[in-house]
Amino acid sequence: MNKLNSQKIKSDFPILNQKINRHDLVYLDNGATTQKPNAVINAISNYYSHDNSNTHRSVHELASRATIQYEHARTITAKFIGAKTEEIIFTSGTTDSLNKLVNSLKHQLKKGDEIVLTEMEHHSNIVPWQQVAKETGAVIKWIPITDDFRLDLTTISKLITTKTKILSLTHVSNVLGTINPVKEIIKEAKSINQNVIAIVDAAQSVPHISVNVTDLGCDFLAFSAHKAVGPMGVGVLFGKSQLLVNLEPNHTGGGMVLEVTKDNTTFNQAPYKFEAGTPNVAGAVGLAAALTYLSKLTMNAIEQQMHDLTVYGLEQLNTVHGLNIIGSKDAKNRAPVFSFTIKGMHPHDIGEILNSHGVAIRGGHHCAMPLFKRLKLNGASRASAYIYNSKEDIDQLIVAIKAAQKIFGVDK
Ligand SMILES: Cc1ncc(COP(=O)(O)O)c(C=O)c1O
Repeated sequence: MNKLNSQKIKSDFPILNQKINRHDLVYLDNGATTQKPNAVINAISNYYSHDNSNTHRSVHELASRATIQYEHARTITAKFIGAKTEEIIFTSGTTDSLNKLVNSLKHQLKKGDEIVLTEMEHHSNIVPWQQVAKETGAVIKWIPITDDFRLDLTTISKLITTKTKILSLTHVSNVLGTINPVKEIIKEAKSINQNVIAIVDAAQSVPHISVNVTDLGCDFLAFSAHKAVGPMGVGVLFGKSQLLVNLEPNHTGGGMVLEVTKDNTTFNQAPYKFEAGTPNVAGAVGLAAALTYLSKLTMNAIEQQMHDLTVYGLEQLNTVHGLNIIGSKDAKNRAPVFSFTIKGMHPHDIGEILNSHGVAIRGGHHCAMPLFKRLKLNGASRASAYIYNSKEDIDQLIVAIKAAQKIFGVDK
């Protein structure tokens, strides 16, 4: 397998070539969003410079080019996650994908039905379900986490019952870095109740590991382009074609219809019936360029690089006095997402001092308040690495953390 050259990759990302507070920028906030390579920036710029038009609705040359590029992006995206082209619905991001899906599925839920989530979900895979549970009388149950920050798999056989309608879980935790065995969990859930609808929040997994919807056995899967070197404002909802046929659209309007009369409307087939209004064509073009960029590096090589950074990051952070890693210390099935607390320091102060060293990390509850409550924490700092990060970046992070501790007098 080819090994990634993070220095060479870094040179593809113009934004990374700058100084912040007189230090070379070390960007370690990839869990929030990733930076964009020239391939993506140029694809979007070319699209707007030469091909921009609305799609599907006209026969002129530019409309035809825009439509071809939009549909080509759908094909590339489908290939990337092992889906069929018609199973890819473009949305504005993971949150939008999940909201649209939840609101479509609510027609299939009634009082007493059960929705199973996990304690490590992002708010975007919690709040929409809570809203729907309030509306329908469905009940939410939670797969707990163990003391090693993994899902407690022994609880699944008890939590999944004949009443379970939905199992919706994150593939990779944006706080803990845990890579969940979603394939095995879905298999077990469906062996207990074959009607369970299995949904995967793949916002953090699609960028980091090979994701194949057929292999995972999921019914739906959501992710955002911007966390995988693509642009903001575009995301994906995958749905199994046989399930999309009967799924009600919850966004209606132009572009998703076959015929509209004063009294009634007939919808187009999937995926179009879920894409009302003018689509984000440039976003889809950017997403296609991003997935093509990642495919050229190969997901196997990316996975290996992510693992190497996880091993090194855990090793180095473990050497820092008074630093507590919020996540498994075992790099197996773990992404390079390092949440941590430092005795005597607030995450906000840590973030500010690191910024003065040119190191970009994030502090807070990372949109996972129930998880923080379970961990009895108010917040944490989070450094999250991606393909352009090297071991030297981790070294810079450690230097900056130690400098911050010195300022606060908590270095010994
Ligand atoms: C695990 C997970 N799910 C969902 C989301 C929401 O993604 P977006 O803000 O792109 O909709 C995020 C973003 O941080 C995430 O990490």
